[in-house]
Amino acid sequence: MTGPRRGDVVVGSGVLDQVGELLADRRRVAVVSQPVVADAYAATVCSALDAVRVQHELVLMGDGEQAKSLATVEDLCRRFARGGLLRNDAVVALGGGVVGDTAGFAAAVYHRGVDVVQVPTTLLAQVDSAVGGKTGVNLPEGKNLVGSFHRPVAVVADTRTLTTLPEREYRSGLGEVVKYALMPAGTAVAALLDEKTDAVLGRDPSVLSSLVRACVDIKLAIVDADPEERTGVRATLNLGHTFAHALETAGGYDLYHGEAVAVGLVFAGALAEALERIPAVDAARYRALPASLRLPVTVPNGDVLDREALLALIRRDKKAKGGITFVLPGARGLETVDDPPLAALHHAFDAVGVGG
Ligand SMILES: NC(=O)c1ccc[n+]([C@@H]2O[C@H](COP(=O)([O-])OP(=O)(O)OC[C@H]3O[C@@H](n4cnc5c(N)ncnc54)[C@H](O)[C@@H]3O)[C@@H](O)[C@H]2O)c1
Repeated sequence: MTGPRRGDVVVGSGVLDQVGELLADRRRVAVVSQPVVADAYAATVCSALDAVRVQHELVLMGDGEQAKSLATVEDLCRRFARGGLLRNDAVVALGGGVVGDTAGFAAAVYHRGVDVVQVPTTLLAQVDSAVGGKTGVNLPEGKNLVGSFHRPVAVVADTRTLTTLPEREYRSGLGEVVKYALMPAGTAVAALLDEKTDAVLGRDPSVLSSLVRACVDIKLAIVDADPEERTGVRATLNLGHTFAHALETAGGYDLYHGEAVAVGLVFAGALAEALERIPAVDAARYRALPASLRLPVTVPNGDVLDREALLALIRRDKKAKGGITFVLPGARGLETVDDPPLAALHHAFDAVGVGG
């Protein structure tokens, strides 16, 4: 499977117009976006394509998880067809993870696959969804149930676009950044979070460029080692996610994805400590780091939650192969751990304020 390689991922402040050079050899490009993102950034992308004389059209889609659907994919593909998009043309996905996943999947299936350039405009999309090659949409029966691996030929992550993100959306993205900081390869990310906390919270585009670059490098190395999630290497990216998914599925807790991941990281640290995989001082870091970025470290109103019900949801997590599987730190780095003893799980539930 090809690209993107490190050099095909452009990260920086004000790099949006590089989309033009990257697609200069194309005949026609469909730029898929959402109204709020297009209002702010489509003009820059379209004039960069004009400058290299590439035909283009803007194709808008809806906002939110309900727009990440097969109906939207059909609508996008029909509009590609009406606009005359051919096999060797390309799609640009300009937006957050919803646009990236949906337009990426439409590109994967239109004409049996046309190239896509991901232009992520949320922090989550820049450090996570735009660079892994996973695309897909939701069904009423569940999230991300239909999709394909379709790696972008290039990624353009302009950190200046992050300045217009709603505050909570931005901070939620930091939950994924903290995940990288806690990974064995995450020392550069951790150093930036520790030393430049205020600049990170204040969205300084040049500090964010270093931060996003460091996260992307970790993700690319892991995805290159296991592009289609077959060997278990890619599963390490799910650090903090088992508990986060259970919280999200349980619903009603008003947590954004990255916020749920932040709590999930606290849970993973406490679980690893209870299993004597890491010392208490390391587990403390799993709480201190998200807290320093003003991310939640306990579940809001978690005392009313039922631990057994959450464990049942974890057992049903599609990434678990039956039983309960967590990605946990330990002496050999991150590993999957199956069916930890109940006493250790209760210690972790205590740590995130769930149940009694
Ligand atoms: N493919 C993957 O590997 C992968 C990984 C993680 C998450 N995801 C998916 O990503 C999706 C979540 O993505 P998200 O968190 O980016 O949310 P999102 O795409 O819904 O974007 C959040 C909101 O911010 C708006 N927005 C985007 N960029 C903006 C900007 N620069 N300024 C102002 N507003 C802007 C969007 O219009 C939207 O309203 C989920 O569907 C999730 O399943 C995919």
